[in-house]
Formats: sequence, structure tokens, C-alpha cells
Amino acid sequence: MEIRVNLGERSYPVLVVHDEAVHFPARLREVCGARPCALVTNVTLERLYERQLGSWQAELGFVRVVIEDGEQHKTIATWQSVLDTLLAARLDRSALLIAFGGGVVGDITGFAAAAFLRGVDYVQVPTTLLAMVDASVGGKTGVDHPMGKNLVGAFHQPSLVWVDTAALATLPRRQLVAGYAEVFKNAFIGGADMFAFINQGHRAVLAGEADAMVQAIQRSIRVKVAAVEADEHERSGRRALLNFGHTFAHALERCMGYGSILHGEAVLWGIACACDLGRRVGSVPEQARTAYDELLLKLPLPPLPGRPDPQKLYEAMLSDKKARGGTLRFVLPTEPGTSVVRDDIGQEAVMATLGAVFGGN
Ligand SMILES: NC(=O)c1ccc[n+]([C@@H]2O[C@H](COP(=O)([O-])OP(=O)(O)OC[C@H]3O[C@@H](n4cnc5c(N)ncnc54)[C@H](O)[C@@H]3O)[C@@H](O)[C@H]2O)c1
Repeated sequence: MEIRVNLGERSYPVLVVHDEAVHFPARLREVCGARPCALVTNVTLERLYERQLGSWQAELGFVRVVIEDGEQHKTIATWQSVLDTLLAARLDRSALLIAFGGGVVGDITGFAAAAFLRGVDYVQVPTTLLAMVDASVGGKTGVDHPMGKNLVGAFHQPSLVWVDTAALATLPRRQLVAGYAEVFKNAFIGGADMFAFINQGHRAVLAGEADAMVQAIQRSIRVKVAAVEADEHERSGRRALLNFGHTFAHALERCMGYGSILHGEAVLWGIACACDLGRRVGSVPEQARTAYDELLLKLPLPPLPGRPDPQKLYEAMLSDKKARGGTLRFVLPTEPGTSVVRDDIGQEAVMATLGAVFGGN
């Protein structure tokens, strides 16, 4: 199944397949041509996929770049070490980088591709659910800075995204559920059809049933692609809808401490908060309340390492890089499958939501 991302001369295909690793080198050459390549991955994936990577390397002859595993390594130092290896290998501007991993590997590799010799092409081969439905598509690349997450980076679209859902077989359950947050989120922004799909199909997806999972991934990629096509550089607000639940999630990650809670886990709680706030400020129409009640029963909320302090969460929201000039921006649900960006929500309503969602935790 091919989903096209239409961005003029930066257009590219997203190929969603199941268990087709043997065909990857040929498809890569078909789409990108025969070129000198470097594959970036991390130590965990290299260990798990040694045989697959070995056979790809035999066919494609790439330079292998292996970084440490974890968000704490998504740094300027790691990014520089990738560039050092590419330079030492004397790759030129015809080089093609291949990111084989989750969002961390994808973001670093994309940013290395954006900067190496002022920009070379790259391909995303996402191996987590989160990277398949979110991070690998859309061209946002970058690394973290001591001042905050993703503060240094570039928009740089890949030339191909190769999503092989077979990789999910080795993904730890906790990571799968965290990635599912970005699928579930699409119920609120992907139209009535996506709302119904999540409502009906969520058990099968979470149980890892192959057909349901492939459907969920394809549908989610389409939602992301539509937003990226409409607002590639996040200027018009259309792409901002993808941040459903994220204003709360970013604050939760900061307060709980990065590493103690996964991004997707925070997004699941953020979804609960956005829905509560939407009801409170009246963005959810009266007649849609039952539909939201039914859907929210299915939200797989993970346990939190402690009870977050609503006041601290609110302060963390205000200091988020996306809270421009102290104005908080929320994506709130309206009709099922549709949401709206609001920057007129008062502190009282937000505090009430934080108290209601985290009060009993
Ligand atoms: N660029 C974007 O648009 C965008 C969007 C969302 C998130 N992100 C970024 O993505 C990152 C999070 O991505 P993530 O959730 O994929 O985390 P991750 O890349 O850290 O991967 C999670 C863990 O799973 C392991 N793993 C990956 N694939 C595996 C597999 N198939 N089998 C077994 N283990 C596997 C990794 O080694 C890692 O330990 C964050 O840095 C976030 O900022 C970027």
C-alpha cells in the first residue's frame, strides 16, 4: 500500500508493508536510485535485527552508524558523532542516509541529513508504532537541548518512508501502547470515520491483530499526511491539530521527569485532559457527549509514577516553547472526529480540568 505525500518537488511515497524486509533494498533503489548509503541505527536494534541489517548491508553496501539507545542520547553530541562518521567515510552529496529505528534515530538521522554537506537525501524506516504513524512522516527533524526537547532542528522531508509492520513483533508492550496514543489521538482530528474506526477497532489494534494494526497505521498516516500537506512548516495552524492532547502531555513529561513517563503515555493522559476541558468550556456539543463517553472508556491510561501537582503542571504549560507570549493553546474536541485550536481558555477552567483528571490518581 502506497500513500503519497504531495509537497511539490519534496513529494515522496510512504510504503506500508508487512514482513517484506527482503524487498527493501530493491524498492529503495527503485525509488532513490543506486547511491552510496549510510544506515543509522541504535545498539538495541542492531542487536535485534543483526541478520536483517547484515543482508541489507551486503546488498546496499552501506556505512553503518550505531548510536546509543534512548532519548537522553538525542543530543547535539550524538548528531555530531553521526556527522563525524559520514565525513570520515568520505561520503559526498549524492549520499543517502537510512534511519532504522524509532523516533529518536529518525529525528537525529533526518537532522544529520539536513546538515551534512548542506543537505542530502534520507529515508525513514520506522520500527516503533509511534515512529510509523507520526515521527517518520512530515519532515520534522532535530535533537534536544539542555533548555528543552526538540529545540534544535530543521524541516527536511525524507525521500521515502518504508513502514514494515513486522518490526512491531519485537517492540515492548509499553512502547506499543505509548505509540497507540498517536493513533487514538486521530479519533479526535481524523474525521467521523476515524472516530468510528477507533471506537470499534481499538481492542483488535491493541491486541496486535495484524489486519487491524495495518489499518490503524494506514489511517493514521493519512491523517498526518493531510495535515502536513496543508501546513508543511506549521504556520497556518492546520498542523497544530496534530498536537491534540500535547499541551497537557508536554507539561506532564516535564513535571514527572523525562524518562519516568514515555511521551505517548503522557499523550494518553493529555487526551483525557483535552476531552475534559472541551466539555468544561463547551466545545463538545451536548449531543456528542455520549459518543465521547463511550470512546474515552477505551483510552488505555497507564499508571503514573506519582500524583502530578496541578499548579506545577499549569506553570510547566506556560513555560512550554509553544505557549507564545504566555498564551496557552489547546486543541479541543468538537463534533466526533473534529477539533479546533483555542487560545482563549482561562486558567480557572484549565486548573479545574487538571484537578478533575489527576485529583483521584
Ligand atoms: N519528528 C517528528 O515529527 C516527531 C513526532 C513525534 C515524536 N518525535 C520524537 O520521537 C521520539 C520518540 O520516538 P519513539 O517513541 O519511537 O522512541 P525511541 O526511538 O526512543 O524508541 C523507543 C524504544 O524502543 C526501542 N525500539 C525501537 N524499535 C524497536 C523494535 N522494533 N523492537 C524492539 N525495540 C525497539 C528503541 O531502541 C527504544 O529503546 C522523541 O524523541 C520525539 O520527540 C518526533
